[in-house]
Amino acid sequence: MIEIVESEVKEFDTIKWANIFTGVERNRFLKASGEHYRLLIYLAHQIENGVLYDVGTLRGASAIALASNPSNDVVSWDIDESLRKKAKYAYPSPPGMGNIEFRIKSIFDEPAWIYDIADIICLDVAPHDGIKERQFMAILEQSNFEGLLICDDIRNRRFPEMSKWWDEIDRPKKIIPYAHCSGTGIVSYE
Ligand SMILES: C[S@@+](CC[C@H](N)C(=O)[O-])C[C@H]1O[C@@H](n2cnc3c(N)ncnc32)[C@H](O)[C@@H]1O
Repeated sequence: MIEIVESEVKEFDTIKWANIFTGVERNRFLKASGEHYRLLIYLAHQIENGVLYDVGTLRGASAIALASNPSNDVVSWDIDESLRKKAKYAYPSPPGMGNIEFRIKSIFDEPAWIYDIADIICLDVAPHDGIKERQFMAILEQSNFEGLLICDDIRNRRFPEMSKWWDEIDRPKKIIPYAHCSGTGIVSYE
């Protein structure tokens, strides 16, 4: 598994990407915990010329964090682009972030082989019911994926099925306490 050094994650300078946003969203990129964006930026900088997948775009924050290292290619999926449209596609369109491809498509309509080339997959599809996460992992098992799977809301009391799903995973895994406030889980397929 990529070595994740807590002090390095907490000290990583994220201001450049935080400044793409304003208000609350900006703070989310600056703080070490609460959201997982700082961790995603850190991980994106541990990989060069890689392929990173962002499953669940919403407004594009996690896509931006993953695309923070321009040597990597990012693909971001969502079934609904209404929030990005409402924001007039403001995020992400800053210069130098042309390494993100957005797909308006369900992730479950993609073939398993696309994961063969991925280094990191950030899976964040709402609602978190543990069912989609199981389905997604079953698809990964059909591929030659050899990277890291990152998921949020593992220990969120509102989503007990997530916790159950997580506990059943029989692969090297850990929950990073200094990322998303409800627990960011990392599963290694390496
Ligand atoms: C919690 S939000 C993602 C937040 C985003 N990752 C971030 O941190 O900025 C979850 C998103 O998953 C999307 N979603 C739900 N089912 C999906 C599917 N089958 N394929 C792709 N996206 C899906 C929803 O439309 C929603 O925008």
